Amino acid sequence: MEKLDNNRIDQAKLDALVSRAIGDLSAGYGGVMVSLGNRLGLYKAMAGAGPLTSNELASRAGCAERYVREWLGSQVAGGYVTYHAVSGTYELSPEQALVLAEEDSPVFIPNAWSVPASMWSDEQKAVEAFRSGAGIPWGDHDGRLYCGVAAFYRNAYKASLVAEWLPALDGVVEKLQAGARVADVGCGYGHSTVLMAKAFPASRFHGFDTHPESVAEARKVAAEAGVSDRVTFATARADSYPGADYDLICFFDCLHDMGDPVAAAAHAAKAVAGEGTVMLVEPFANDRVEDNISPVARIYYAASTTICCAHAISDGGHLVLGAQAGEARLADVFRKAGFNRFRRAMETPFNLILEARR
Ligand SMILES: C[S@@+](CC[C@H](N)C(=O)[O-])C[C@H]1O[C@@H](n2cnc3c(N)ncnc32)[C@H](O)[C@@H]1O
Repeated sequence: MEKLDNNRIDQAKLDALVSRAIGDLSAGYGGVMVSLGNRLGLYKAMAGAGPLTSNELASRAGCAERYVREWLGSQVAGGYVTYHAVSGTYELSPEQALVLAEEDSPVFIPNAWSVPASMWSDEQKAVEAFRSGAGIPWGDHDGRLYCGVAAFYRNAYKASLVAEWLPALDGVVEKLQAGARVADVGCGYGHSTVLMAKAFPASRFHGFDTHPESVAEARKVAAEAGVSDRVTFATARADSYPGADYDLICFFDCLHDMGDPVAAAAHAAKAVAGEGTVMLVEPFANDRVEDNISPVARIYYAASTTICCAHAISDGGHLVLGAQAGEARLADVFRKAGFNRFRRAMETPFNLILEARR
């Protein structure tokens, strides 16, 4: 590293950056506390309970009071729990409960901390990959990645997939209601597949993924939801899964992970029915780096570095899109694969919902 010229340091800029970096470091420590609060049932024990002493919370959650009291201090310092100084009690507000205690809330965050936990655990693999240029297959990561990703997206799918995203596609809901054939490519734990199967009992759903452990988990998710009669899951690649004449082919947060997204889209072009639809759900991104400056983009670029790009490189690396590909690059993939129509059906702060038709 070259020697710094201290005369060129702008003190105000330095102070702002240090303050920002400390805030980020604080969030990293806080994430461990959020994960503990979630795993130990501390947030759930507080939700709706009103003001509690640390002793009361410890006994409700079956934990040791001294640990609970210190953990509560961290929560108050971070604004995740409210402290009543006069009574020495701690309370979870309804808003805090939605974010920290209610598993089914679309803004429930704790499980999402499993992804950075897996990234830290796999840091050495990333160091080696940066140096060698080799890939890291999806299945080679710390196990917290898979449940973290599934949990991160599941609540958004639950809140929006059936209610908003499918209706934003041309004529798809009518076909699903009447009885359609659907492929969910790169289905992971199959939460998207199962949600659609629950909403559209006349349709048949086929989930495909290259990660056998995820496929096994998806079968469990379908069985627990009571939809195994209309859902199948199989280990298969996006460029060669079986079946033809699908009315709907979905890619949820996976096209950019694939080593050859054009081949995956080309296979979809062959497998989709003539008037069928491909639904592409990708992480929200604008087309240019300078337009992707936000906390959400920071999360996606980081995960993309050590997970998405790393898998795509291990999967052939023909076109490594990354999780911030943006609509223009995605449209180009589908144009090259033989689709004539491509449009943004809708967007959310986290996702682009795109529709491709031949
Ligand atoms: C980020 S996960 C998304 C999983 C799921 N669709 C969801 O939204 O929760 C990406 C998935 O793509 C799968 N995948 C990666 N490359 C693939 C390929 N070439 N063919 C099929 N699946 C692939 C991975 O195994 C992984 O389950």
